[in-house]
Amino acid sequence: MSEVHVINHPLVQHKLTMIRDKETGPKDFRDLVDEVSVLMAYEVTRDMPLEEREVETPMGKMKGRVIAGKKIGIVPILRAGLGMVAGILRLIPTAKVGHIGVYRDPETLLPVEYYCKLPVDVEERSIIVIDPMLATGGSAAAAIGYLKEKGVSSIKLMCLVAAPEGIDLIQREHPDVDIYIAAVDEKLNSHGYIVPGLGDAGDRLFGTK
Ligand code: PRP
Ligand code: URA
Repeated sequence: MSEVHVINHPLVQHKLTMIRDKETGPKDFRDLVDEVSVLMAYEVTRDMPLEEREVETPMGKMKGRVIAGKKIGIVPILRAGLGMVAGILRLIPTAKVGHIGVYRDPETLLPVEYYCKLPVDVEERSIIVIDPMLATGGSAAAAIGYLKEKGVSSIKLMCLVAAPEGIDLIQREHPDVDIYIAAVDEKLNSHGYIVPGLGDAGDRLFGTK
């Protein structure tokens, strides 16, 4: 069963509350999502393996530690996942970025895939799938399924807000994928929106409504 990590750091919680506020406009919304993404990436990468490397300081030689193991890939789910990319890249500048386009059919709430461009060596990387919202879980489950078809074996999912239904779906369909979130909200409404949530993440990021 995949683990669910709720990142309760005070800075994350404070900024998430500002993100949720309906009075927060697109510029502040974008800036805050970016800042929370940096803070969350710090937790998501906490278990990265290290190896020793000798370094010479101005005072002499010592054995330092550097990141080892698989290289990282970040895969935002379009559109809203784009808002989290720059923050993570500031922490992991060598990560490669793939894009998966999935939108939710407003009638059926089922995911529809429309775009995919991944790093050529995607199957050799540890992938962090990013999307601010995990609602029914359909979009994230489809994106993860697609990555697995391409041979990816190490995947984490990082979202800002999740509904219990979304967490359940990922745990059922992808029990090997750990989930990192800033909050688990109460429920989905009849249109599949997270309540209380933050509204439509894509529209708020890009000012499209
Ligand atoms: C939103 C969000 C997730 C999806 C979550 O995207 O960014 O990708 O809905 O819902 P789910 O868990 O029920 O699948 P949306 O379909 O609105 O597309 P957009 O990002 O292009 O606005
Ligand atoms: N997508 C969003 O952007 N918000 C929700 O609450 C659910 C799906």
